Amino acid sequence: MNKKAIVTGCPGQDASYLCESLLGKGYEVYGVQRRCTRENNFMNFCESNSSFHSVTMDICDASGVTDLVHSIQPDEYYNLAAMSHVGQSFKEPLTTVMTDGYAIAAVLEAIRQHSPKTKFYQASTSELYGKVEDGTILNEESLFVPRSPYGAAKLYAHNMVNIYREAYGIFGCCGILFNHESPRRGKEFVTRKITDGIAGIKLGLKDKLKMGNIDAVRDWGHARDYVEAMHLMLQQDTPDDFVIATGKTATVKEAIQYVCGLADLDFDNVYEINEKYMRPAEVPYLCGDASKAKKVLNWTTSYDWKSLLKEMYESDLETLSGVVYNTMDASKERFF
Ligand code: GDD
Repeated sequence: MNKKAIVTGCPGQDASYLCESLLGKGYEVYGVQRRCTRENNFMNFCESNSSFHSVTMDICDASGVTDLVHSIQPDEYYNLAAMSHVGQSFKEPLTTVMTDGYAIAAVLEAIRQHSPKTKFYQASTSELYGKVEDGTILNEESLFVPRSPYGAAKLYAHNMVNIYREAYGIFGCCGILFNHESPRRGKEFVTRKITDGIAGIKLGLKDKLKMGNIDAVRDWGHARDYVEAMHLMLQQDTPDDFVIATGKTATVKEAIQYVCGLADLDFDNVYEINEKYMRPAEVPYLCGDASKAKKVLNWTTSYDWKSLLKEMYESDLETLSGVVYNTMDASKERFF
């Protein structure tokens, strides 16, 4: 019998990579997405696979979650759905606590009552750490002091997984993932905003990048590598929490400078600071130590922030070049 996995958060970046990976490993995959989720083609590969089952459900609907868990009895449940934009969580604190906090209590209850053998993965985050001193390398023992509604809701969920593990013996794991990006990243996140924006400027489609705090420091890895860590966590004999990170950092400013170098553009002319993108409270510095994941899970990452941004920039340049080419083609038709 093939293993069965439920993956929420389709068709987002992480869920799309994870579903592809699980299908490649022979799983029956139940990919959950909300009705009306914006369309994108990341899930095309999965949807043409007969082992992929698309489920339309809101993770905040406890009865739907309970029915799903009860009827599928999944071997593994990956909770990747979230209100995942930290800045937006200040504008939607209540939606955030429902999606990123309450919904996790609902699924844990569903598992406890109806499918206690299901192994559960929770997408925890480096945002749990909040305000840390520059230069601090964070691991599983570091203190959590979140600085956003997003971080606070995620900390509630993180604690609930630990409580259900201890109190009821549920196999629940939290991946404390540092920032992870890819060409599939939404353009509202800073790396993709930079690579898509600079590709657009290069092609004459855009004027300037409007940025928030460019002094923020982040530890950026590739989402494709990070979803493998999620799977590895659920293959262990005992459940645990793991930091997943590269241990290397760059500022947002360095990221812009690097991509400007790839595009042969002058850094000073490419961006301007816009208050709109500043957050009411900022997490200024995040750098993770993934030694435990490397040792216990044998997890490795093949990207650093430069190779990651290069891949993203090249992908955006190719996509936008197609847009330019098609526009030229259309105007040629009109002209002749
Ligand atoms: N999004 C955005 N847009 N961020 C900007 C901008 C801008 O114009 N200018 C500066 N920044 C700064 C943010 O203030 C933040 O310090 C940093 O760039 C990274 O922002 P994001 O890419 O939005 O990511 P994040 O670090 O807030 O959160 C992401 O990573 C977490 C850890 O893995 C999200 O994916 C979270 O869901 C995730 O938990």
